[in-house]
Amino acid sequence: MVSQHSYAYARLRPLAVILSISSLSSVAYSSRDPNYKDALSKSITYFQGQRSGKLPSNQTIKWRSDSGLSDGSLENVDLVGGYYDAGDNIKFGLPMAFTTTMLAWSVLDFGQKMPNQVVDNVHEAIRWATDYLLKASAQLPHALYVQVGDPVADHKCWVRPEDMDTPRTVYKVTPSDPGSDVAGETAAALAASSRVFKHLDAHYSKTLLETAEKAFDFANRHRAKYSDSLHSAVCPFYCSYSGYLDELQWAAAWLYQATKNSSYLQYAISTAAENDCDTFSWDNKLPGTRVLLSQYTLVADGGDKSASRFGEEAKRYICSVLPNLQSTTVQYTPGGLMYKMNATNLQYVTTSTFLFSAYAKYLKTSKETFSCGSTVITPSLLRHHAKRQINYILGDNPKGMSYMVGYGEKYPQRIHHRGSSLPSLQQKSEPFACGDAFQSYYYTSEPNPNILIGAVVGGPNPDDEFYDDRDNYAQSEPATYINAPLVGSLAYLAASFRS
Ligand SMILES: *[C@@H]1O[C@H](CO)[C@@H](O)[C@H](O)[C@H]1NC(C)=O
Ligand SMILES: *[C@@H]1O[C@H](CO)[C@@H](O)[C@H](O)[C@H]1NC(C)=O
Ligand SMILES: *[C@@H]1O[C@H](CO)[C@@H](O)[C@H](O)[C@H]1NC(C)=O
Repeated sequence: MVSQHSYAYARLRPLAVILSISSLSSVAYSSRDPNYKDALSKSITYFQGQRSGKLPSNQTIKWRSDSGLSDGSLENVDLVGGYYDAGDNIKFGLPMAFTTTMLAWSVLDFGQKMPNQVVDNVHEAIRWATDYLLKASAQLPHALYVQVGDPVADHKCWVRPEDMDTPRTVYKVTPSDPGSDVAGETAAALAASSRVFKHLDAHYSKTLLETAEKAFDFANRHRAKYSDSLHSAVCPFYCSYSGYLDELQWAAAWLYQATKNSSYLQYAISTAAENDCDTFSWDNKLPGTRVLLSQYTLVADGGDKSASRFGEEAKRYICSVLPNLQSTTVQYTPGGLMYKMNATNLQYVTTSTFLFSAYAKYLKTSKETFSCGSTVITPSLLRHHAKRQINYILGDNPKGMSYMVGYGEKYPQRIHHRGSSLPSLQQKSEPFACGDAFQSYYYTSEPNPNILIGAVVGGPNPDDEFYDDRDNYAQSEPATYINAPLVGSLAYLAASFRS
């Protein structure tokens, strides 16, 4: 189909696009699209199950109760609230802030496509985090609190968050023991959220923005990886592998979004974070910044030339993730799922799917296309890639199972999540002691008594296999940063493909 006549290019292009969609997306196992609306609503409900602190009376996940009500007291500060990161009972600041940034980006870009009830729930989920992040930032510029709970002691026990009695040790970064990654991500979360609340609660929004600027200044002024200051409190759990420049740049990008003050854009442009990267996660923000700032290069009048670097980097990112191209660097399973890592792989699927959805939107607005080698990239192709990945998660896969708890007919029953795996306080009021529950509730093939609705687990292995076992936490543990970007992607797909 290669034409000798260059004029034929424009005529043939639509056909070329259709062909590349089918060759880039692998086999589908189901002929029907999932119910994206149902999955969207569940994906945000999940966050209620992760809440720490005093729960409101309208909490719909009823098997959870108040927990961590004296968090912060060991240092005479108030750190009640926020989210547990995954299946255990620690409040880790870096993934919590990243989760918040991604929930904010989800509603900023795709909130108009969400039903009102869902938008309200996303706002509430963000505020649950930002109320906590404001408390954690109250001592700036002297200290930023970045974690509550001794992770080593916590991981030895299997108890409900409502029962925990291991030390709620408080960890902070300071000018002498800094952490630019966690402070930068906190700044990004607060700045992105200030945009979310701009027209809903102007006073709150202003507080978030002022605090974001303080956190950014602190991150920029005192530069270090937080894992070099906090060591075994954060490693190997959420060690900063990618360093802190990616977070400083990401924070500046969000502060530019929130303020339109060009000095933040200049900061992002001049931040030396130049290597290509196909992984977007709580650790590495490079692809996120690139896609976020590519908006300024993708506008009808050619955009802001000074930001063109991000446009080029974003395109290279897209070309490295799409399957079956010469530029592809990520792996796919035989069943067609993007595969980055053996632990909690679905987080990389939901983050990249979010970036594809956002980039498709920006590309569509600008009416541009570009190429990866000889493959023409259009918004429709990006959308189909995102759809294929999300459909896999929701059940269109070789095992025919959904990886979202409570969605579809077959989903994980033994997730690595304490609250879900143990009878609730209403069912059993006596507390569990540290090691009491392992035998009867952890190492048992019985399904979990409580359904953590909407939770997406780590997911299948490179052979599309999944072992539904609590002890197999690399596959069976859900996490807030898997779900947060999924909220945006599902809103986009729910609006693009009505089932
Ligand atoms: C639930 O209660 C909280 C606290 O009272 C309130 O801020 C929130 O708007 C309520 N949410 C809904 C969906 O009614
Ligand atoms: C923009 O931000 C810089 C750095 O924080 C600050 O010095 C400057 O005053 C700001 N400019 C405006 C117009 O707000
Ligand atoms: C992932 O697990 C497979 C076995 O299922 C192993 O061969 C491979 O080396 C692991 N990859 C990584 C990156 O750990």
